[in-house]
Amino acid sequence: MKKDIRKAIIAGNWKMNKTRSEAKALIDEIIPLSQNADCQTVVCVPYTNLETAVQAVKGTNIKVGAQNVHFEENGAFTGEISVSMLKEIGVSYVIIGHSERRQYFGETDETVNKRTKTALAGGLIPIVCVGELLWERETGITEEVVSRQIKLAFFGISAADAAKVVIAYEPVWAIGTGKTATSEQAQEACKLIRDRLCTLYGKDIADSITIQYGGSMNAANAAELVAKEDVDGGLIGGASLKATDFGEIIKAASV
Ligand code: PGA
Repeated sequence: MKKDIRKAIIAGNWKMNKTRSEAKALIDEIIPLSQNADCQTVVCVPYTNLETAVQAVKGTNIKVGAQNVHFEENGAFTGEISVSMLKEIGVSYVIIGHSERRQYFGETDETVNKRTKTALAGGLIPIVCVGELLWERETGITEEVVSRQIKLAFFGISAADAAKVVIAYEPVWAIGTGKTATSEQAQEACKLIRDRLCTLYGKDIADSITIQYGGSMNAANAAELVAKEDVDGGLIGGASLKATDFGEIIKAASV
């Protein structure tokens, strides 16, 4: 992390876990652990828990995020949720293009781009996820894959808006598998992303953008990962569901 020039963000991606009462209990446990954090803590909870989470974090340094948002402002999109609906209840962040959405729900680089634009227009901070599949890494095309995802995600986005985006580099083979990228692999990919952002927007903007690592980040490996220059925090799945583990990760990012 380079805290002098950009914000370190530790975001929990709860995925499809926790009922409303469980969410309240977990957030109540996280609040004291985040109290003295020198990083931004975010909890990205299921839609049904958003309002509860927003109420629970009032007066604390924790922000609330959603896990997806539709790219139209309103209309006949059964089952979808809009930016204004999220904004109205006090949501600040939204995960866009998570690999599970790409894999199971037909998310493409094009829809990632559309969602990112809509989120920015409505004042939500997008956490845009990119990352290669196992076979893509094994065949040596990680650089092409991630570069393409970045270029398409940011297509048509101004420099001023790009500066508001958070990126999560999440190698798909490391998500939920217990197989973490080494800190060198994480640094290499985050640096590659920053280089692509530099080509698109110039050094100042590229240097200011938070790039997280995600994929089996936990209490034991977080410190080593976030010690890398271009790894500005993490997007954490499994370990964000246990307050003590999440608290340790927040602590590691606060050094
Ligand atoms: P994990 O998930 O930490 O459980 O690997 C990360 C993510 O999917 O964002």
